[in-house]
Amino acid sequence: MVLRIGHRGAAGHEPENTLRAFTTAVSLGADMVELDVHICATGELVVIHDETVDRTTDGSGAVAEMTLRELRSLDAGKGEKIPTLGEVFSVVRGRVGVNIELKGFGTAEPVYDFLMRLFDDGSWRVDSVLVTSFDWGMLRRMRELSGETRLGPLAYEDVIKALATASELDAYSVNPYHRRIDTAYVSRAHAAGLRVYPWTVNEPGDIRRVVGFGVEGVISDYPDRV
Ligand code: G3P
Ligand code: CA
Repeated sequence: MVLRIGHRGAAGHEPENTLRAFTTAVSLGADMVELDVHICATGELVVIHDETVDRTTDGSGAVAEMTLRELRSLDAGKGEKIPTLGEVFSVVRGRVGVNIELKGFGTAEPVYDFLMRLFDDGSWRVDSVLVTSFDWGMLRRMRELSGETRLGPLAYEDVIKALATASELDAYSVNPYHRRIDTAYVSRAHAAGLRVYPWTVNEPGDIRRVVGFGVEGVISDYPDRV
């Protein structure tokens, strides 16, 4: 079975990284939702892609310099608010897995603390969460903190180097840009014991192509197309 991973929730259907996008992904049959995490000025983990709020909300400014209260006053699309990481986990719990992308600098430690609370109180299982990042240093930090958390290095250009990094991290998956992979790449990842979750695959022909390579999951703005 190929996992349907809803990118930023279901960004092709609803405002990205909002609760509305995550619940839509669930209702469209996603197995997992992908989200981007930053830390704001008051220390909360918030779900937003960019370093600033400018593109996705009606406000402007750097996420790292804004309080949660300021962030919550903004419209992230269709009246939605920027959610906290905890809110997303509460809304999708028991329905889908979550792929947390460490986007903001310094998010490894707070995400580790966040996850350990959920794993320890039994509300989430380790196998329902995947932590990814283009910043492989943050993934190394996460691995130092936690031997059990599932990790996946993201790669745009360095997809070959990502395989070595994934092995070094004892990662669960490798998450390459979809146009840089082929059957040989996927075989190589499999030989290293890795799953392959390419991103962001939206066109039906591209989805068919990567599924034909033998990937285990597809990250898409349209999880319903996978
Ligand atoms: O997880 C894959 C994808 O989300 C990486 O790119 O820019 O959409 O975060 P981006
Ligand atoms: Ca992302």
